[in-house]
Amino acid sequence: MSPLTESQTESIVRKAVAVRSKAYAPYSNFCVGAAVLLDDGATVVVGCNVENASYGLSICAERSAICQAVALGGRDVRIVAIAVAAVPMATPCGACRQFIAEFGENIRLICVNADDPQLRQQYSASELLPHGFSKTILKR
Ligand code: THU
Repeated sequence: MSPLTESQTESIVRKAVAVRSKAYAPYSNFCVGAAVLLDDGATVVVGCNVENASYGLSICAERSAICQAVALGGRDVRIVAIAVAAVPMATPCGACRQFIAEFGENIRLICVNADDPQLRQQYSASELLPHGFSKTILKR
């Protein structure tokens, strides 16, 4: 797999930042955008957080994007970019770490400050979820 070009990376980051404006977060007012790049190096799928009056039903941006990717037939996730307006930035919640790791421990996560997208940190899925529960345990 060829390494991502800078313009591919910037395009994913821009999409994560842009979709943040679609977040439905009337309770927390904390808007999150996520963009998933599939292994073909071209398909980018986006998601945002969607909250609910029954708070526990709210879904995070990362899971929303991954569900959308899977529904489109894309399970080979290469990158997940996450945009928040937190200082300096935020990393995915535990549930999203588990959800992302399901699709590969080598997935790169790019956490971006939406107000200053040059501020970013990168992790692998396994770095953010060491010793996580894995589907390999379920295989017989
Ligand atoms: N949220 C995400 O979208 N992703 C995360 O990884 C953490 C939190 C959302 C959920 C909720 O709508 C809001 O941020 C505040 O927790």
